[in-house]
Amino acid sequence: MKRVAILISGGGSNMVRLAEDMSDDHPARPVLVLSNNPDAGGLAKAAQMGIATEVVDHRDFKGDREGFERKLISVIDPYAPDILALAGFMRILTEEFVTHYAGRVLNIHPSLLPKYKGLHTHARAIEAGDKEAGCSVHEVTAELDGGPILGQARVPIVAGDTSDDLAARVLVQEHKLYPAVLRRFAVGDKTPVLLP
Ligand code: GAR
Repeated sequence: MKRVAILISGGGSNMVRLAEDMSDDHPARPVLVLSNNPDAGGLAKAAQMGIATEVVDHRDFKGDREGFERKLISVIDPYAPDILALAGFMRILTEEFVTHYAGRVLNIHPSLLPKYKGLHTHARAIEAGDKEAGCSVHEVTAELDGGPILGQARVPIVAGDTSDDLAARVLVQEHKLYPAVLRRFAVGDKTPVLLP
């Protein structure tokens, strides 16, 4: 049984879907939900689901990224995770951190990578006049939003869409894509999942 630590910064809807999926014959179990934000709504949801929670507040480190990451590692490692799933974790991780967990970190990003790395993905897709948008799950490397893609889901962009409209449509697909990728990744299968 693979042990999964899920890192969040906010509401944690992807975390909830991952954790719900990890039951019965699933090859993995959630062992930790960690947030850099003590006010993240997902912390209470994780606790309700009976998952251990931890907070490492990046603001306590005042720009000392290495110190923040050393603390993250010291809190995460006692849970002995096989996989780290970033689910709306809004801190950029350094090469040192990624190397510590090399090949074991996944992220979900709300765009069809390699398009729109970084922030404001939906507004940028609408602004560019794209006809479709979507989300990607990828392995995390030192390059921001740049690791090998393990799955993508596409949605149409409809005339008059606001970025909130599009974000909501993409999020529905995120909730399908991430659990599907994790199920494969947990048994060593890196064949990309393509939805719908
Ligand atoms: C999701 O849309 C996720 O793709 C995005 O944050 C949201 C978190 O929602 N992640 C990023 O933008 C990472 N750069 P959630 O907390 O409800 O899962």
